[in-house]
Amino acid sequence: MAGYVVVGTQWGDEGKGKIIDVLSEKADYVVRFQGGNNAGHTVVLNGEKFILQLLPSGVLQAGTCVIGPGVVVDPKAFLDEIDRIEKRGAKTDHVIISDRAHVVMPYHIEMDKIRESVEDRIKIGTTKKGIGPCYADKISRDGIRMADLLDMKQFEEKLRYNLKEKNEIFTKIYGVEPLDFDKIFEEYKGYAEKIKHRIVDTIPIVNKALNENKLVLFEGAQAMMLDINYGTYPYVTSSSPTLGGVTTGAGISPRKIDKGIGVMKAYTTRVGEGPFVTEIKGEFGDKIRGIGGEYGAVTGRPRRCGWLDLVVGRYATEINGLTDIVITKIDVLSGLGKLKICTAYEIDGKIYEYVPADTKSLDRAIPIYEELDGWDEDITQIKKYEDLPENCRKYLERVQEILGCPISVVSVGPDRSQNIHIR
Ligand code: GTP
Repeated sequence: MAGYVVVGTQWGDEGKGKIIDVLSEKADYVVRFQGGNNAGHTVVLNGEKFILQLLPSGVLQAGTCVIGPGVVVDPKAFLDEIDRIEKRGAKTDHVIISDRAHVVMPYHIEMDKIRESVEDRIKIGTTKKGIGPCYADKISRDGIRMADLLDMKQFEEKLRYNLKEKNEIFTKIYGVEPLDFDKIFEEYKGYAEKIKHRIVDTIPIVNKALNENKLVLFEGAQAMMLDINYGTYPYVTSSSPTLGGVTTGAGISPRKIDKGIGVMKAYTTRVGEGPFVTEIKGEFGDKIRGIGGEYGAVTGRPRRCGWLDLVVGRYATEINGLTDIVITKIDVLSGLGKLKICTAYEIDGKIYEYVPADTKSLDRAIPIYEELDGWDEDITQIKKYEDLPENCRKYLERVQEILGCPISVVSVGPDRSQNIHIR
């Protein structure tokens, strides 16, 4: 059996897209298990940049790409993405969607926009793509699933009920225009026609592959600190991007997972609102943003930048049960002078080595840093670990020591070829 899970260990944008793309060269299956088109993975192939949102990053080379039961799918976004990458010569016949995956509807998108603009409500900084409201309907058992798109009668009934309820909320609570049933029904009927050949029960397919020792990669979107249960709630996503999410979101037993690979950027970034203990404000933060190109892959939003936070790293290593860490973007740290690693927080005089539940208390957290010497060399073309500057190796070794988990790959640039394999 070879079930490998790749998850983000920080706030996302760690470069999971590139790592999954690299690993998927040998993968028979790549499976998304949570999230929707709120993700934005960047894959660079022969200098060409592909931004993938709903499609697994392995789409450019893996055997079969599965959009699993735990994913929420906006059919319009899905078809647009298929169209976009097909126009650039990529094949998509190998992309299948679980019949259990939930469908993002126009009223979810509307609700997302409204909730983010309501006064007095905390602004989460969502991508306004309807992901949260779609998961909310799933949990409240009002959701529409991909299987419903295969049965228009069933779809019609569910849509009618949902729209009646949502339109009441839109008009009576928020004072916005109701949405039109016929328009949505016709639109989604069209999408169903175009995607129905891809909608299947993915559970036997994925389990059979694992039983036959095929390499199955489970691709996490978002990351540890955005996890609905363990992230900086409420500034989180509406799913479980951690390893536990694989079992519920892909329909497999935890016993079928052999490797938990955590992707960790050599520093920290965060998009949107919420606490960020090691954030570097001002010129130095701007400098890292500039060198690292830290702007949202889809939205172009500038990302907040800070030092590597190993309180977060430790938490991620533990909760995900990581077997391997992949460090990305360490090339960005070249020439920055002294570097800092956060090993603990001090909050109201108490030391924390794990992330506390009280998100508000993180605003008062003082990061406890270890300072390490930096390096000036350009490391982007280095292929062997021993060729890295000594201080760079010391940085990596200290991270490994603090986390108690081996680093297996170091990524030194965006291209598929820019990696140092350690084990
Ligand atoms: P999310 O699922 O949204 O978290 O995306 P992601 O983790 O796949 O990250 P994303 O692709 O949005 O951002 C990573 C950016 O860093 C992309 O522009 C990558 O091309 C780039 N990148 C990845 N690895 C490296 C690296 O080692 N060095 C440098 N300089 N850039 C890298």
